[in-house]
Amino acid sequence: MSKKPRFTRRTIVKGITASSLLPLLGGNLAGCSDSSDRLARVESVPADFNHGVASGDPLSDSVILWTRATPERDGTVVIGWELAADDSFDDILASGSDTTNASVDYTFKVDAQGLAAGTDYYYRFKTGDKVSATGITRTAPTGALGSASFAVVSCANYPAGYFHVYRDIASRDVDAVLHLGDYIYEYASDGYASEVAEELGRVSEPAHELLSLEDYRTRYAQYHSDMDLQACHEAHPFIVVWDDHEIADNTWRDGAENHDPDTEGDFSERRAAAIQAWYEWLPVRPPATEREIIYRRHQYGDLLDLLMLDTRNVGRDQQVDYNDHLAGEAIDVDSARAAIGDSSRSLLGRDQLDWLKGQLTDSTARWQVLGQQVIMARLALPEPLTRGLALGGSLEQAVAATLATAAAKNKPPEERTPEEQALLDSAIPLNTDAWDGYDFEREDLLNHVAQLQSRLVVLSGDSHNTWVSQLTTADGTPVGVEFGGSSISSPGVEQVAGADNAAVIALFATNLVDDLNFTNLADRGYLLVSFTAEEVSAKCLYVSSIVEPDYTIKQELEKNFVVPRDTLLLG
Ligand SMILES: [Fe+2]
Repeated sequence: MSKKPRFTRRTIVKGITASSLLPLLGGNLAGCSDSSDRLARVESVPADFNHGVASGDPLSDSVILWTRATPERDGTVVIGWELAADDSFDDILASGSDTTNASVDYTFKVDAQGLAAGTDYYYRFKTGDKVSATGITRTAPTGALGSASFAVVSCANYPAGYFHVYRDIASRDVDAVLHLGDYIYEYASDGYASEVAEELGRVSEPAHELLSLEDYRTRYAQYHSDMDLQACHEAHPFIVVWDDHEIADNTWRDGAENHDPDTEGDFSERRAAAIQAWYEWLPVRPPATEREIIYRRHQYGDLLDLLMLDTRNVGRDQQVDYNDHLAGEAIDVDSARAAIGDSSRSLLGRDQLDWLKGQLTDSTARWQVLGQQVIMARLALPEPLTRGLALGGSLEQAVAATLATAAAKNKPPEERTPEEQALLDSAIPLNTDAWDGYDFEREDLLNHVAQLQSRLVVLSGDSHNTWVSQLTTADGTPVGVEFGGSSISSPGVEQVAGADNAAVIALFATNLVDDLNFTNLADRGYLLVSFTAEEVSAKCLYVSSIVEPDYTIKQELEKNFVVPRDTLLLG
């Protein structure tokens, strides 16, 4: 039990309030003439653009443009920016210049405004005689809209392998990339998923686990040196939310599993440093109000309202730990269920939940889409299987339990032995860090959705595996669909269970879990999600390798799910 006072909301946002973020904007607004007198007096340190360009948070009339200068020495760097309708920049529609310096780690952001809706723009930056790469971005459309499409990604782990997924998305025609978190990982260079790092020349920097602002900045700089990541940012605007590893593993409102206050200091200071670096290094619009930290709405015409959520920092109560609910070696199912179902526990926090319900109530779009971190669908597995996968229990036992349960499930109830029925009845959530661990709040939200008859599509990251599920209320009523994407490079179940076991578990999981329609537990990849007025389709794409320098998309693994708006039912 922590003796520290509980976090207040004000403490949480310490260091990330809107006013404290204003300096991060670093640039002027398109259409405004800058104080060129002021800039003329600035001695600009020579610099280059080594970390690419990026754009993000596209609205119908504005978009954030981003770059980062690498100066020859400390000082001030004057950066000019240009936005044009074509990549030759013959017809510059907006331009300006401003400075950046060490206070924002030489990152540079412009909120280019006064733009036309649903339009492609080219942009670039200049300093001295150096010109950045050219990026292309796209504003959000307004009015009647026939279709919209997004690449959906999460969990890019630099030491684990190449970012082929980013490279592949660079060549796709999508309106935006939705990044659902784990843009970086916080571990030391010999930590999680670092087995092939040296061989691939992808050893994490700094070598120690990230704690300070300088640490997080260094890690972002390394990620942004990756040419595949740069190519993806150049090609599309990103809409980004953080998950836990932008701070520390299994972050919650008041701490993280991978944070020890006795040896690693005050968690709120670590979080403030992590979030400052996140705002500096990503093309995210600083919040207009303190209330909306990263949860926000993006509208794509009359077709969809995209609601981006924060399930980590603003409201989450601490995760239920099965280690606190053991009976001998097994998980005490009744005790664990009671903890998970506790009505006082929250994932979003009251403010965000109220905001989300209000947004859903007010939405008149054809689709209501949630872009968020953790799996929302029910994903309960028989206790021995959950124990094997979640607590590092015996995998032989887990696989045996999978096979036994699948066999039992396929029998009529009256033909099952008491042992088989008990096995089926022992199902508990695989992951208490997901919505499954916050059952009361999920039910509250899904009942609201059911009442409104929202057309709900939930996009999720975090798990490193693909999970395509029907979203249902506790009484089994379908209220939406969830597409949980694989990872860019972080290892999935195959690392815990072995590839063969992962394949067995995947094969039977859809049989064991009523709401689960499809899972892939072994391959890295991403989702292409497209909306029309009548249907949503999600294509699951997987790369052939993340440790070979070249890759292909594995055609044989490709899956496409089409869900009609009128039924919201997976096939
Ligand atoms: Fe992850």
